[in-house]
Amino acid sequence: MTVAEVLQADRKAIQRAASLLREGKLVAFPTETVYGLGACALNPQAVARIFEVKERPLFDPLIVHVATLEMAGEVGEFLDPRALLLVKRFWPGPLTLVLPKRPTIPDIVTAGLPTVGVRMPAHPVALELIREAGVPVAAPSANLFGHLSPTTAAHVVKQIGDRIDLVLDGGQCPIGVESTVLELLEEPVLLRPGGIPLEDLERVIGKIRIGSLKDSPRAPGQLPFHYAPRVPLRIVPQEMPPPPGFRVGLLAFQVVRHPEWFVKVEILSSNGDLREAAANFFACLHRLEEAGLDLIFAEPVPEVGLGRAIMDRLRKAEAKTLQ
Ligand code: TXA
Ligand code: MG
Repeated sequence: MTVAEVLQADRKAIQRAASLLREGKLVAFPTETVYGLGACALNPQAVARIFEVKERPLFDPLIVHVATLEMAGEVGEFLDPRALLLVKRFWPGPLTLVLPKRPTIPDIVTAGLPTVGVRMPAHPVALELIREAGVPVAAPSANLFGHLSPTTAAHVVKQIGDRIDLVLDGGQCPIGVESTVLELLEEPVLLRPGGIPLEDLERVIGKIRIGSLKDSPRAPGQLPFHYAPRVPLRIVPQEMPPPPGFRVGLLAFQVVRHPEWFVKVEILSSNGDLREAAANFFACLHRLEEAGLDLIFAEPVPEVGLGRAIMDRLRKAEAKTLQ
């Protein structure tokens, strides 16, 4: 079994990664949200390997990452004036726009949909990698399908290190939850809450409808279960004593009143800062997953700003482990 090379993301490593991408290989790289597993978006065979490596169903479309507006225009159609307003305000950054796709993007990238998700990441390593590769980069989160997203290079290696060629290590991802996915066809629809709060988007383009399961034919990846640790997770309204005989861990928001009840405790943000909570979210769950627990109790966080993205992922983790 070979394990991926992990390189500090300096200029030389980025150049190497860029040439691997051009050759049709897979490279994991940091973004401001989570680590991505990248392939050249114009190469259907390379993109097919992403689905293999992640064990991801082919009906789940990928996000295409770009480094310039010119590149973005070659991926999707930016005819809607609201798309331009959003790009001006939030790119580079954790916003994915779902727009009509250009014919140059192979069907496997979009799961056969007539639309494409496109985003310009705000991480300097991601931007330099895409610019250096000179091609748009299709990249889902660099984890196995349905499992916890990676916010460090070590998280990537743990899940898929034996299946890919190179991991660029750029340290911890500063935002820590995936991009917000917004469909902009006729009415704007929020397909996934994420790194840009809904409130901020609405301030620029007005009311946004919250996507639901009935939008799923257009957003087949928006499954009700996802982002799950390998240990069952339950959202508990407040700290409660675990059932006797079970090794239970606690994912707390701010304060812990009874640490002695739990085998392991993780706190998202001791001063209740939702940004800090989002940045710590997946790393806390990775540590809980590794603590040999029977069950994880997770406290809800306030559902405003980035709290919406955190609660979305907690609910999906709970739904997955209830399956
Ligand atoms: O922050 C992020 O978005 C990270 C980093 C690596 O950029 N990427 C990411 O990709 O989270 P992924 O594949 O784990 O999630 C992409 C989501 C999927 O749920 C997919 O269904 C949705 O975006 N999506 C992509 N293209 C779409 C399309 N054309 N229509 C509807 N949904 C789409
Ligand atoms: Mg993902």
